[in-house]
Amino acid sequence: MNQIMGEPQGVDFPISAEEIRGLVQPNHVHRRAYSDPAIFALEQERIFGRLWIYVAHESQLKNPGDFIRTRLSKFEVLVTRHHDGNIYVLHNRCPHRGARLCMVDQGSNRAFSCPYHAWVFRPDGSLASVPHPKSYPADFDIADRRNHMQRIANVQSYRGFVFANLSDNPPPLIEHLGPMTDVIDNLIDRAPDGEVEMSESSFALEYRGNWKLHMENAADIFHPTFVHSSSVMPARRAPANASILDQDQTREMLMANGFGFKEWEGIQLKGLDSGHTYMTAFYDSGVLSRQSEDPVSIEYRRRLAEKIGEERAAQVIGMNRFNNIIYPNLIINAQYQQMRIAIPLSVDRTLVRIQCFRLKGAPDGIFHRAVRFISNLGSPASMIFSDDVEMLERCQSGLKTDTGPWIDFSRGLDSDDKGADGSVSGAASEMPMRVQFNAWVRHMTTEAA
Ligand code: FES
Ligand SMILES: [Fe+2]
Repeated sequence: MNQIMGEPQGVDFPISAEEIRGLVQPNHVHRRAYSDPAIFALEQERIFGRLWIYVAHESQLKNPGDFIRTRLSKFEVLVTRHHDGNIYVLHNRCPHRGARLCMVDQGSNRAFSCPYHAWVFRPDGSLASVPHPKSYPADFDIADRRNHMQRIANVQSYRGFVFANLSDNPPPLIEHLGPMTDVIDNLIDRAPDGEVEMSESSFALEYRGNWKLHMENAADIFHPTFVHSSSVMPARRAPANASILDQDQTREMLMANGFGFKEWEGIQLKGLDSGHTYMTAFYDSGVLSRQSEDPVSIEYRRRLAEKIGEERAAQVIGMNRFNNIIYPNLIINAQYQQMRIAIPLSVDRTLVRIQCFRLKGAPDGIFHRAVRFISNLGSPASMIFSDDVEMLERCQSGLKTDTGPWIDFSRGLDSDDKGADGSVSGAASEMPMRVQFNAWVRHMTTEAA
């Protein structure tokens, strides 16, 4: 799989701060924000090259030699667990002649051996050996860092979620996450044994559209009624209790997209100054609900209460926030143990990874629900996400044409509530897009990190 390499990036930024500011109005955004390769290159520099970007979960790197291949800004990187127990983020590039070293997305390697001339690197990036060492000059030193895979200096974890940052002197990760640590805490608190493990199986799909379209879609509460209608009607007609295994999870998830305006208006949205957003949940009935009385849910609640007490367990399960977006590109749904990452490849290509977690100590049935959740909602064959992807690609194709420079995100502008802490609350609103673009303008117009 070569897709995470993306396409060559421009390095010239002939765009002034004034020009960037001119692309975003209170209620409109210019199509260039989605379609101009120079804007994309600047985003790689000033957003993905400066903010803390999620790269891996520690449970994917249990043993020395385990690694993940992903992308950080315009670079392909390997996230590795070294024999010293530490996690490193390394450029996936051989320092000898520049060849890409690793071509798989995940695995375990005692060492990375370059396919070209067989220089061998340890999981911390240091050079272990070169073939035929006597042919190198006397001053060639395998301990010289110039001969090592280059490391990303800033790597920090929050409770197992590993982020990397390319800037020189970044603020602590915890500062970037701000109140969004609540959702990571909540995901882990849901595990009776206090630990989560990422499932080895995951989905990845690529769409032909800008990365921001996906982040906006994940916070857009009015579209499901229209975009997902083709699966709402059959779900409504399907008999209830038809599948013992599924316990109507699929049917109820599909039907939830058929809410009327009144129900959508009842979903609260929250936007933070940092660009992070979330909404109150809408899968709140049936087997996925907090109150579900099926045997798996009862057993799960019993096990959790046994570990942390009835009252605390009720609080943990009661946290009901959907599509928690950690700006710029991570989405976490704690109550369904699910996560999505949008990895920009080029101005009009985005890779989405969809993954789920096992709650340690919970009954297997809870994990099966999480797997069913990502299959229903996020797989390439999903009856939900495939609709969204069609819309994202149609938007991209429309935004390529210059038939009109501005697109609208004014819904809810007059009814949003502004908090003293800089947060904004709204319902039936496109506020999350406005909040995301406020952060976008701030980062894109900051010259130096
Ligand atoms: S390019 Fe890697 S060993 Fe030569
Ligand atoms: Fe959708």
